[in-house]
Amino acid sequence: MAKMEVKTSLLDNMIGVGDMVLLEPLNEETFINNLKKRFDHNEIYTYIGSVVISVNPYRSLPIYSPEKVEDYRNRNFYELSPHIFALSDEAYRSLRDQDKDQCILITGESGAGKTEASKLVMSYVAAVCGKGAEVNQVKEQLLQSNPVLEAFGNAKTVRNDNSSRFGKYMDIEFDFKGDPLGGVISNYLLEKSRVVKQPRGERNFHVFYQLLSGASEELLNKLTLERDFSRYNYLSLDSAKVNGVDDAANFRTVRNAMQIVGFMDHEAESVLEVVAAVLKLGNIEFKPESRVNGLDESKIKDKNELKEICELTGIDQSVLERAFSFRTVEAKQEKVSTTLNVAQAYYARDALAKNLYSRLFSWLVNRINESIKAQTKVRKKVMGVLDIYGFEIFENADNSFEQFIINYCNEKLQQIFIELTLKEEQEEYIREGIEWTHIDYFNNAIICDLIENNTNGILAMLDEECLRPGTVTDETFLEKLNQVCATHQHFESRMSKSSRFLNDTSLPHSCFRIQHYAGKVLYQVEGFVDKNNDLLYRDLSQAMWKASHTLIKSLFPEGNPAKINLKRPPTAGSQFKASVATLMKNLQTKNPNYIRCIKPNDKKAAHIFNEALVCHQIRYLGLLENVRVRRAGYAFRQAYEPCLERYKMLCKQTWPHWKGPARAGVEVLFNELEIPVEEYSFGRSKIFIRNPRTLFKLEDLRKQRLEDLATLIQKIYRGWKCRTHFLLMRKSQIVIAAWYRRYAQQKRYQQIKSSALVIQSYIRGWKARKILRELKHQKRCEEAATTIAAYWHGTQARRELKRLKEEARRKHAVAVIWAYWLGLKVRREYRKFFRANAGKKIYEFTLQRIVQKYFLEMKNKMPSLSPIDKNWPSRPYLFLDSTHKELKRIFHLWRCKKYRDQFTDQQKLIYEEKLEASELFKDKKALYPSSVGQPFQGAYLEINKNPKYKKLKDAIEEKIIIAEVVNKINRANGKSTSRIFLLTNNNLLLADQKSGQIKSEVPLVDVTKVSMSSQNDGFFAIHLKEGSEAASKGDFLFSSDHLIEMATKLYRTTLSQTKQKLSIEISDEFLVQFRQDKVCVKFIQGNQKNGSVPTCKRKNNRLLEVAVP
Ligand SMILES: Nc1ncnc2c1ncn2[C@@H]1O[C@H](COP(=O)(O)OP(=O)(O)OP(=O)(O)O)[C@@H](O)[C@H]1O
Ligand SMILES: [Mg+2]
Repeated sequence: MAKMEVKTSLLDNMIGVGDMVLLEPLNEETFINNLKKRFDHNEIYTYIGSVVISVNPYRSLPIYSPEKVEDYRNRNFYELSPHIFALSDEAYRSLRDQDKDQCILITGESGAGKTEASKLVMSYVAAVCGKGAEVNQVKEQLLQSNPVLEAFGNAKTVRNDNSSRFGKYMDIEFDFKGDPLGGVISNYLLEKSRVVKQPRGERNFHVFYQLLSGASEELLNKLTLERDFSRYNYLSLDSAKVNGVDDAANFRTVRNAMQIVGFMDHEAESVLEVVAAVLKLGNIEFKPESRVNGLDESKIKDKNELKEICELTGIDQSVLERAFSFRTVEAKQEKVSTTLNVAQAYYARDALAKNLYSRLFSWLVNRINESIKAQTKVRKKVMGVLDIYGFEIFENADNSFEQFIINYCNEKLQQIFIELTLKEEQEEYIREGIEWTHIDYFNNAIICDLIENNTNGILAMLDEECLRPGTVTDETFLEKLNQVCATHQHFESRMSKSSRFLNDTSLPHSCFRIQHYAGKVLYQVEGFVDKNNDLLYRDLSQAMWKASHTLIKSLFPEGNPAKINLKRPPTAGSQFKASVATLMKNLQTKNPNYIRCIKPNDKKAAHIFNEALVCHQIRYLGLLENVRVRRAGYAFRQAYEPCLERYKMLCKQTWPHWKGPARAGVEVLFNELEIPVEEYSFGRSKIFIRNPRTLFKLEDLRKQRLEDLATLIQKIYRGWKCRTHFLLMRKSQIVIAAWYRRYAQQKRYQQIKSSALVIQSYIRGWKARKILRELKHQKRCEEAATTIAAYWHGTQARRELKRLKEEARRKHAVAVIWAYWLGLKVRREYRKFFRANAGKKIYEFTLQRIVQKYFLEMKNKMPSLSPIDKNWPSRPYLFLDSTHKELKRIFHLWRCKKYRDQFTDQQKLIYEEKLEASELFKDKKALYPSSVGQPFQGAYLEINKNPKYKKLKDAIEEKIIIAEVVNKINRANGKSTSRIFLLTNNNLLLADQKSGQIKSEVPLVDVTKVSMSSQNDGFFAIHLKEGSEAASKGDFLFSSDHLIEMATKLYRTTLSQTKQKLSIEISDEFLVQFRQDKVCVKFIQGNQKNGSVPTCKRKNNRLLEVAVP
């Protein structure tokens, strides 16, 4: 095992020492120096073991940030530098994890920083405990209860600008998880005298100033208040303003906090109304008025204020006025009313104000408790935070009943500190038989006894005095003290035993002095009896009860006449004693955590460390003794059983079970862990560990070991899990394998089976085929025999048939021969008769039959009706040849007629013309056959339609027979020019093709002849009558594509007009008259190279040659 070694940053970079236990040498001087050194370096916290010393820095330090909270969260107490957060964390964790209720005791004198410390603890716990909407609301309500209570219960004093004038103990309740559930606040004795009077340099409770500064005008008007502090007698004026405190802003904070805590609007308003009423009560003044019986009676000076108070609180003015003037005393069912003098009236007024305010304060605490109380009834863990007013000493015997009470409370706290840390610890060592040298310390039990002893304690004396019939004054009380306590070593007065001889002039007559643990305090006895009685005249409480203001009414339940209780209420002193006793009892059940606050100076100033002042506090707080006990003692103790149970896993022998006494187990354990022997001691029932670090080391080892154990458990579990898994897998594998093998074998069997079947079938097939072959052979053999038999029978049958046929033929031949023979014989006999008649008749009949047959056949073979159809059936008999030809001719003529009959007149005309042309040119001109198929159109040129020829058309009146473009052959050279050739009924006209201008006009009577070749050309000459006008230039020679048509039309027109036949000469050589010359036009066979167009050439004067291809 490694050497034990504790890493703590408590020791790292330490200024002075963080834990006074480590201080060397230890004396008052080193103690203070250490504190001072740390204070100068802003280290305000120092430990004495687990006790935190806090020195008030009087300025804000950057050590409470959320990051710091995180730093200290879940860390060991000694791990980081000393801090109030470390203590809070320790307390919270041991509450949460070890289920130990905690209390945090914060002590120190006024202004030492207790309230601030308590707030820091609360805010730390709020920051680290659970989160969530509900939890956050609880936290917020717990934290926001502070500003409300501070406004009503804190005031500026000479020692502290925010001095708590009440004691406060707050239980914060948590559930098992450590989430806050709610809380309960207990308050202890508010210093109510402050309401009516404040010492010089001090203020009334904050709320009065906050209300006047921060309330809106509207609210002030409603409360009939004025903003000016000087208007109110209860507010001291010399220190109405506190430096660095914004009362107005704080007022808003308080109102906001009230809202968060859960005050309804009307509740908050009622509270302020009560505050206003208290303020205004102070302004009621009285004047004396002499009465007839000689006694002075008081009268209210100005009833205005009273009226306003009554309006505000809903009290009948006369009732309240009367309560200020009279006092009713009830004794033995008799009511006696006495008048009050001015002093008594003022006393009554102040008593009312104080009571009103202090009861309001208690009501507030109850109201807050109602809001923050835990909603569940489950068992709660509790952390109590005690912030009680600090030890207080005024100079010049200004200490009164309140200081007495406050200091008594502090004595009790010191007592419990001593009980738990010094006395109890030392006693335990002895009890447990631990070697121990006693350390002297001052036990203040004797002082507590002086105050609280039931028979002769100061409080008992005071109560006795208060209850005693007869005249009771503060002086009689002091006298009583002098008698009873005179011998007490902590009590001094002028008349006491100890001072009588000393003749202590520092002790005034009306005072007594108590030597508290924190110093001597001189108490002024004046007011003790009164304050202890805490009397409020019944008339006043009854007046208050009658108020219509529900809050005020509820504050004075004893004013209800139905519940009159003649018994005296318990005195303030005895009440306080009782509540302190309950508190102490409560604290003793919890695990204490100490914060000891130290005030570094009296000036409320930062950076000042008044050594004398600090020294004084250290002394009375017994801190040095605390260190000594701590050093000599042990930081931790635990009974053997739980100790062994907690750490047994750290050692093989004790883990997992130790058989034997627990103490022996712990011994073995510690030896095994090699913990140095000086670090622990064995008590009778407990083990004592000297140093917290040893404990932390143990805890660390345990934590580590727990992790190892967790790993071990994990390992075993994982192993078990894997093995189970493996076994399962193996089992599954076997099942799968079995199944698979079966499947494989089945498959193989199937295969073998099917193969056997195949082979079997092949063999069977082969066998069957063999049998089949044999059977087929057998069958074929049988068939062959049959066939052979059939063939044989066939042959026999055919032979028989042949023989029969032969026989039949022979019989037939015999019959024929016989018939011929008979015919021959008959013909020979009858020949002479036949030749004379029958031959002719047979001939005629046969001929008739043949002709008849011819015509009937012809009827079916007739050709079509087209005249050009040349088909005609051939003749069947030669002797019908002429008939056949004649029939053909007749049929042709008949069908031609039929054809002609269909013709219109125009068609007839055309055919006439065609016929004419045929007569004229058929077989004469080679060109003719090509013209047969061409229809004769005549007017090829449509002069009517062409606007170019309009003039030409206009010039011609007759009907145009031919209009055609022809080539006119130049007489001189044989070249040709285009001319329009027009033939009318009487004239022949030639016109220019382009212009349409008439060039020549020849009357038909002047045309004598038309000549043309026999060849296939279109040349023709028109011969004119000699001597006629037209013939001056000579005959015309033309060539045209429509020669046959033109010549025919010219012939027919001339015939119809002149009744003479126009001569048409067809010859390959003819003469024409050109002027005076007779020229021969000769047509020759032209060569092919000129193409298919005939060319014309004038050869000489007498010859014009036309070459026709
Ligand atoms: N930790 C701190 N950091 C900064 N300032 C502090 C701290 N503690 C106390 N103070 C200052 O000291 C003033 C007095 O502190 P606090 O009111 O807590 O004293 P107290 O011990 O409660 O006194 P009393 O007994 O009169 O109520 C605070 O108002 C604050 O200004
Ligand atoms: Mg305080």
